Amino acid sequence: MLPIPEYFRRDVYPRLPALIKKVGPTFHYYNKPGIVRIAKAMKVAFAQIPYRQYFAVKACPEPYIVDFLINELHFGNDCSSIGEAAMVRALGARGEDVIYNSNDTSEEEFLFAMKDEDCMLGVDDISFLPLIPIFPKRFFARINSGKRLVTPDGNVIGDPYYAKYGITYGQIIPAYKMAKRRGAKEFGIHIMVCSNDRHATHFVETARFTLEIAALLYRKLRIRVKWIDIGGGFGTPYRPADPELNIDWIGGKISKLFIDFAAQYGWMPILMTECGRFVTAPHGILVNPVLHVMQKHRHFIGVPAAMTGCPRPAFYKAYHHIDVLTPKGNLRRGLRHFTNVVGPKCENWDRLTATSSTTVCPECGHIEHTNGERLLPWSIQRGDILVTGNTGAHCHMDGNYNFRLLLAGILDQDGTNENTILIRKPQKNIDLFRQTIFPSGKRELLERLLENS
Ligand SMILES: Cc1ncc(COP(=O)(O)O)c(C=O)c1O
Repeated sequence: MLPIPEYFRRDVYPRLPALIKKVGPTFHYYNKPGIVRIAKAMKVAFAQIPYRQYFAVKACPEPYIVDFLINELHFGNDCSSIGEAAMVRALGARGEDVIYNSNDTSEEEFLFAMKDEDCMLGVDDISFLPLIPIFPKRFFARINSGKRLVTPDGNVIGDPYYAKYGITYGQIIPAYKMAKRRGAKEFGIHIMVCSNDRHATHFVETARFTLEIAALLYRKLRIRVKWIDIGGGFGTPYRPADPELNIDWIGGKISKLFIDFAAQYGWMPILMTECGRFVTAPHGILVNPVLHVMQKHRHFIGVPAAMTGCPRPAFYKAYHHIDVLTPKGNLRRGLRHFTNVVGPKCENWDRLTATSSTTVCPECGHIEHTNGERLLPWSIQRGDILVTGNTGAHCHMDGNYNFRLLLAGILDQDGTNENTILIRKPQKNIDLFRQTIFPSGKRELLERLLENS
């Protein structure tokens, strides 16, 4: 099984040379029908119970893509910053369509999240509760399961016990009690313990654990939890040997847990997911021309966009599959060789192949402990097209993940603090969208929403 879906080879690659002529040699490509197919499969998997998927906007904050997820597929939106919340509101999301689920949240953010709309507002720490200036009607806490729910691998987030996210189990009752006192009327629960996880059982365990918490809140505070949000983290194959996540199996098992819960307690919460990667990652590719073929102590291929287009290999040593095409769009085959694919930054890890692994060369049986190398066709030439797979999520915008703003710069001209001048303006939320293209008529609302932030 290849991690780049089969239709790319069949339908997309043959048309790439014409597309390159039209838009230029280097770009991110997204395939809407592929995204729509996954979105529909998710709905089918959970069709037995009340369910809604909230797209994690940080995964792919492209207004055109988020627009069809909202307006054609009726997804909700999981937002983690003012920029993301403004974007989805400009695209038409309202009230319960928006989860505001952020970390280390500032007062300005809480105020923005609550502005005009009654979103579902989350807190990531018990100390935030007294600080929320306008308390939401719809409240939830992110819960850190500590040692009670740990997934062994597939996990960028890490062991929950050491993770920075969420309130502890012991803080659940005091936090929800305080939320009730401060005026919350509807309650949810949110847990996300894994990232890019392809073990179906882990999601079922998360759902089971959240239902236990729902039962606890009912017993202790008579709260009937309205929604249970098991987060994102649904994995997708990146390496050829990676298995696919069986979403139908997960849907069946979790639905059964919810149905049993309803039979015991007399009400059923809505199940929510916040998937990003699972929805868009496989349906995006990064297209690069081969600029240089370079032989040093090792073999190097130079492309215009490595870290800039796909930072995950450099950040996490993550594997992204690479297909090499001839200038006519045909797959290059034949003898393969250990190859580094590098970008133009003066940074040794500006590589699309920055994966650490042990690889056996199928041609000669040589075992190589690669550190940033990949077996790619030996015959790669200048002008070939390099396709990096799985770049539809957590790639393009990871340089400014969650739309967090770049800071001001100050120059102290004589070292006394008396003569400081501003040499770089702090970025404003609207600056995030300078180059972003919105569906027609939707940018105006964005500008109004971000007028004072
Ligand atoms: C709170 C929260 N929800 C959802 C997501 C989306 O994760 P993924 O794209 O892996 O599904 C993330 C992560 O990056 C997250 O931190």
